[in-house]
Amino acid sequence: MPKWTRRNFLKTGVAASAGATSLLPSGTRLLSGETSSASAPDGARPASAPAPRERTLLDFGWRFHLGHADDPAQDFDFGRGRAFQKTGDFFKPSHPDFDASGWRAVDLPHDWAVELPFHEDPWLIGHGSKPLGRTYPATSIGWYRRVFQIPAGDLGKRLSLEFDGVFRDSMVALNGNFLGRNMSGYAPFCYDITDHANYGGNNVLVVRVDATEFEGWWYEGAGIYRHVWLVKTHPLHVPQWGTFVASEVQADGPATLSISTEVGNDQDSAAECRVVSAILDGDGKPVVTARSATLSVPGWRRREVRQKVRVSDPRLWSLETRHLYTLVTIIETGGVTVDRYETPFGIRTIRFDPDKGFFLNGKSVKVKGTCNHQDHAGVGIALPDRLQYYRIAKLKEMGSNGLRTSHNAPTPELLDACDRLGMLVLDETRMFLSAPESLSQLSRMVRRDRNHPSVMMWSTGNEEPEEGSERGARICTTMKRLIKRLDPTRPITQAMSGGWGKGIPAVVDVQGFNYHANQHYNYMIDDFHREFPSKPSIGTEDGSTLSTRGIYYNDKEKGYVWSYDLSLHDGWPTPAEGWWPTFDDRAFLSGAFVWTGFDYRGEPTPYGWPCISSHFGIMDTCGFPKDNFYYFKSWWGQEPVLHLFPHWNWPGKEGEEISVWCYSNLEKIELFLNGKSLGAQAMKRDSHVEWKVKYTSGILEARGYRNGRLVLTDRRETTGVPAKILFQPDRQRIAADGQDVSVLAVSVVDAKGQVVPVADNEIEFELSGNGKVIGVGNGNPSSHEPDKASRRKAFNGLCVAIVQSTRQAGEIKVQATSLGLESATVTIQCEQAALRPSVA
Ligand code: GAL
Repeated sequence: MPKWTRRNFLKTGVAASAGATSLLPSGTRLLSGETSSASAPDGARPASAPAPRERTLLDFGWRFHLGHADDPAQDFDFGRGRAFQKTGDFFKPSHPDFDASGWRAVDLPHDWAVELPFHEDPWLIGHGSKPLGRTYPATSIGWYRRVFQIPAGDLGKRLSLEFDGVFRDSMVALNGNFLGRNMSGYAPFCYDITDHANYGGNNVLVVRVDATEFEGWWYEGAGIYRHVWLVKTHPLHVPQWGTFVASEVQADGPATLSISTEVGNDQDSAAECRVVSAILDGDGKPVVTARSATLSVPGWRRREVRQKVRVSDPRLWSLETRHLYTLVTIIETGGVTVDRYETPFGIRTIRFDPDKGFFLNGKSVKVKGTCNHQDHAGVGIALPDRLQYYRIAKLKEMGSNGLRTSHNAPTPELLDACDRLGMLVLDETRMFLSAPESLSQLSRMVRRDRNHPSVMMWSTGNEEPEEGSERGARICTTMKRLIKRLDPTRPITQAMSGGWGKGIPAVVDVQGFNYHANQHYNYMIDDFHREFPSKPSIGTEDGSTLSTRGIYYNDKEKGYVWSYDLSLHDGWPTPAEGWWPTFDDRAFLSGAFVWTGFDYRGEPTPYGWPCISSHFGIMDTCGFPKDNFYYFKSWWGQEPVLHLFPHWNWPGKEGEEISVWCYSNLEKIELFLNGKSLGAQAMKRDSHVEWKVKYTSGILEARGYRNGRLVLTDRRETTGVPAKILFQPDRQRIAADGQDVSVLAVSVVDAKGQVVPVADNEIEFELSGNGKVIGVGNGNPSSHEPDKASRRKAFNGLCVAIVQSTRQAGEIKVQATSLGLESATVTIQCEQAALRPSVA
């Protein structure tokens, strides 16, 4: 490709073509020198020259120590009143000579709460029963320390530290200089460290994390549980999240992209520059480029540049195609590229209709979603990026196409996974207030997430007491105004449980319903639709269906709920069949989000201690499906499904009647016990079939038919005793980047290889090679076994170990053993990977 210059660009004549000007919004004028073309400047191509911007990961090599919320002597003297006295003296551990050798080595993401023992306290039960809060001062403060080099050559650049998320209140110091305080466990934050850095030497970064106050009512973890980045730029640069691409697409025609770019000039002198916006397709091929006129940015000011380009044959982002483009923004000054900033985005349209629901790219899509907290077996909230993909893939396997980030701004990699795997996101902020802190958190979320094609809508809150009040309406109006300024393209909603027609419902673009789909409520979704027919609507939360994986009886003492989809009591927890048909039947409802896709720590409704995690999930905390998974897979997914339950190991119950259920989307299901038909039943849409069967051991088999043809069979066989262990790794090749993981599912099987559905053998994991076990789990909501361990009991036949690579290629061998069982071994290859640049 010839070198891109302004001269040969003009020679192509593209700049003069109608396309270049007609794409501007009406009422705007092409500034002198502003052009667009179908080729890309050199700087837009992947690194032909060293990138002027560096963004490096600061996840490795931290030291960690618990502090103390009440006692300065145990809190590294913090609280003795000296911290703010003189610059450079903030935090004793900031001192270069501070001896941190007694601090534990940790890598990020890290959650210290998951490492703590479970503790009985009624105040903690909703939060996962970990000793956090003012009454647990010795386990509620965490200190992190990291020493890193900044080369002398960086003097003159702008340097900043980006924290993707810390739970919860944090204070950060660099070289003893207090940088700031962040009081959200979910909003990202960033500190400019240019003035405080030590150029040509060591820099001591210290973060004190205070988790004494929860933000929600579920398990929220504690610590630096998302990535930290060191960013270096030229003084003239694109500020964090300073780009936004909005697309308009004509039916089967071209797309118009409106690009807005902020240029920050963090220096005393004014600077002249141009903004070059190059669009690359998913294969990295240049599609179109816009080049701004020269603009002058005064010192310490920001300017916004707006450009429009046309993509004549856009490859749309959809749930099936997930095509992602990249906007490469180049800041040129005096012919030199001083910044290069990449923004992945997708081209797609969204629309809500009050009668017909949601439309993606003009096609009707029913949202079949789940709400989730960020919490997984073994790791708490400190999810390696790969686990985000793992979880989204599991949800997709069930036929789900939507996720609500309840009730907070998500980890960025969750949205990457949703963009790449095809999942619509309802992105929710934590704090429903229009005070500066809340607006700042909201603004950080919207600016950060607005280029993700998966994000379909913003949510300003959940079940807020002010939902039906004038004050609520005022708060919501202010939040809405801010959102629309930052992103005019997406609607807003709020997850509401009341206040219908008053207060917030009058402000939001789309009415969100939490529950209210069944007869338990005297005001229902239909009533709202009748009263407010022009308001589009969606089920922001429903279900709260209770079940424990592999359990078919209720046991208050053990804290188990049966997996039959039946109401336990008259309340808001609703069987899956009690609410989904309402949404499926009504075209005006855009779909709904189930509470929840996965179990999470805390909220062990309907029980308390010793139960420590929820029963709401369609999958358990490890991602093992419960029976309900197949209800949703039947009616949300596309493939034929046939799922029979319960298991058939009921010694001592011979002759007793057992409820046998079948989930399927086939037309007719016939049940057999030991080869004898127990009758066939027709399957109704969004339903299940059920038999009462007198127990006798042997083989229970369901046969599913469509158009008279046998399509699937499923069987439950009375198993023998546990005989051996089986491994099922989700991947056997992972990247040797110190972050990638393989999820090793383990089952306890009988001599014939059938999972023993009641087995609880303890499995010991022994690992050799370049890796480590970062956590174990089994989905038992009442297990008090540690997550950070190399052993775990099976729960109803299954457990899991999560294995992480180091940054050295090679093999990881994991052996699983258990007394009296044949052991199992698995080998994971850790392959040399293009390591993400990280700070030494
Ligand atoms: C909802 C709430 C969720 C969760 C759920 C449990 O009201 O929005 O966060 O607590 O109840 O059923």
